[in-house]
Amino acid sequence: MNILVLGSGGREHTLTWKVAQSEKTEKLFVAPGNAGTSQIATNVNIGVTDFEAIKKLVIEEAINMVIVGPEDPLVKGVYDFFLNDETLKNVIVIGPDKAAAQLEGSKEFAKEFMSRHNIPTAAYQSFTKDSVEEGYAFLETLEAPYVLKADGLAAGKGVLILNDLQEAKDELHNMLVDSKFGEASTKVVIEEFLSGIELSCFVLTDGKDYLTLPTAKDYKRIGEGDVGLNTGGMGAISPVPFADEVFIKKIEDRIIKPTINGFQKDKMTYKGFVFIGLIKVNEDPYVIEYNVRMGDPETEVVIPRIKNDLVPLFEAVGNQTLGEKTLNIDERAATTVMLVSGGYPEAYEKGKEINGLENVHDSLVFHAGTKLEDKKVVTNGGRVIAITSYDEDFNEAIKKSYQNIEKLSFDKMYYRKDIGFDL
Ligand code: AMP
Ligand code: GLY
Repeated sequence: MNILVLGSGGREHTLTWKVAQSEKTEKLFVAPGNAGTSQIATNVNIGVTDFEAIKKLVIEEAINMVIVGPEDPLVKGVYDFFLNDETLKNVIVIGPDKAAAQLEGSKEFAKEFMSRHNIPTAAYQSFTKDSVEEGYAFLETLEAPYVLKADGLAAGKGVLILNDLQEAKDELHNMLVDSKFGEASTKVVIEEFLSGIELSCFVLTDGKDYLTLPTAKDYKRIGEGDVGLNTGGMGAISPVPFADEVFIKKIEDRIIKPTINGFQKDKMTYKGFVFIGLIKVNEDPYVIEYNVRMGDPETEVVIPRIKNDLVPLFEAVGNQTLGEKTLNIDERAATTVMLVSGGYPEAYEKGKEINGLENVHDSLVFHAGTKLEDKKVVTNGGRVIAITSYDEDFNEAIKKSYQNIEKLSFDKMYYRKDIGFDL
C-alpha cells in the first residue's frame, strides 16, 4: 500500500513511525512533515488544506490511504473532497466527513449532539450578538467560575474561565460584539463549571464498530504545577492510573457507546479517531469536548502502546470491518516530555540547531517542530521534540525521558520537569 500522512507535528511523526513498521506499507509520504518524518518517509512540501495539490500527489504516487493528523483539513472537508472525486473515491481517508467534523469545529454542534444522545456533559446555553443580554442573564443564574467557549476553531485559545461575574459579562461582550476570536466567536457557549481531574480517551471507529485505545493524560500549561498559559501540550502519560476498570466501563457505557450509536442515528460518516476529552467529577465521567483526530502529545504515548500493525486496522476502518479486529496493548506505561522553544506559547525564535539527538538511548524521539537545514536538524516551531519512554511503572518511564533529555540541547530549550506530578 502507498500511504500519505497529512501534518507536520509530533503526532504525525508518531503515526508515520508506526505505519512505517507495517509489512503492508510500500511507499510512505508525509505532507508537509518534519526532519523526523524525512528519515523514515518522503516529505512532500504541500500544506494540509491544499486539497488540489494533495489530489495531484495521490494520483501521481498511486496512494491508497490518507491518514489525516490535524483537524483543519477534516473541518474543511478533506473526507468529502475524496469521496466526491471520481479518481479519489476509493482511497481510504482516515477521518470523519465534514458534517461529523463539526463535533470539533463547533462547540454548539457538539453540545447538541451530546444532549440529543444523553451523553453526560456540563449544562449549557449558547448565545449570539443578538442575544447578548440573555447571555448576561444566564451568567447571573450560574455560580463562579464561568466557562465561556467560542463556538468555532480558535487554535485552542477559545475557552475562557473567569472567576468574576462582571469580567465574564465583559468577555462575553468582547467575544460576541467585538469579535475577540473573529468568526469563531460569532456564537458563544456558556457552560456550567465542572470540577475534577481531566483525562482523554481515544476511539478508532468505522462508524459502526469501534476499538477503545489506551487512555492518556496531557499537561497543557506551560509552567510546572500546571500554571501559566495554555499550550498544545507539554507532556503526556498513558495509561491514566486513576482510570481503573470500573471507571473505564462507565466511560464505555455512558459515553463511547452512545457516541458511536449517535453517529449512526444521525447518519454521520465517521471513519477515524475520536478523541474524547473527559473530566472525572467524583466517580463519574463527563465530556468536556470532542476532537475528531488524535491528540498531540497524547499520540506520542498512545500509539507506541499499540502492538497491532496499524495498517490493517485502518483498512478495516475503510471497509467497515473493524468489528472483526481486536487490539493488542503493551501493558507497560508510556510517558512523553515535550521540549519547546523558549518563549512558547508566545513569541519564540526558530532555526536553532538541536544537539545530541544521536545520544538518546532507550527512548523514542518524535519530532514536532523541526526541519533539516544544511543536513542539520534545527527548531521550526514552538513544540520541538517529544521524548517518549516505556517502563512497567510510569515513574520509571518518566525518569528515562528526563535522563535522555539531559543529553539534548538547543538555544533557549525549555521543558516541564514535573510531568505526572499529580498522579
Ligand atoms: P476545551 O477547549 O473545550 O477542551 O476547553 C479547554 C479547557 O478548559 C479544558 O481542557 C478544561 O480544562 C477547561 N474546561 C472546559 N470546559 C470546562 C467546564 N465545563 N468545566 C471546567 N473546566 C472546563
Ligand atoms: N493535547 C490536546 C490536543 O491535542 O488537543
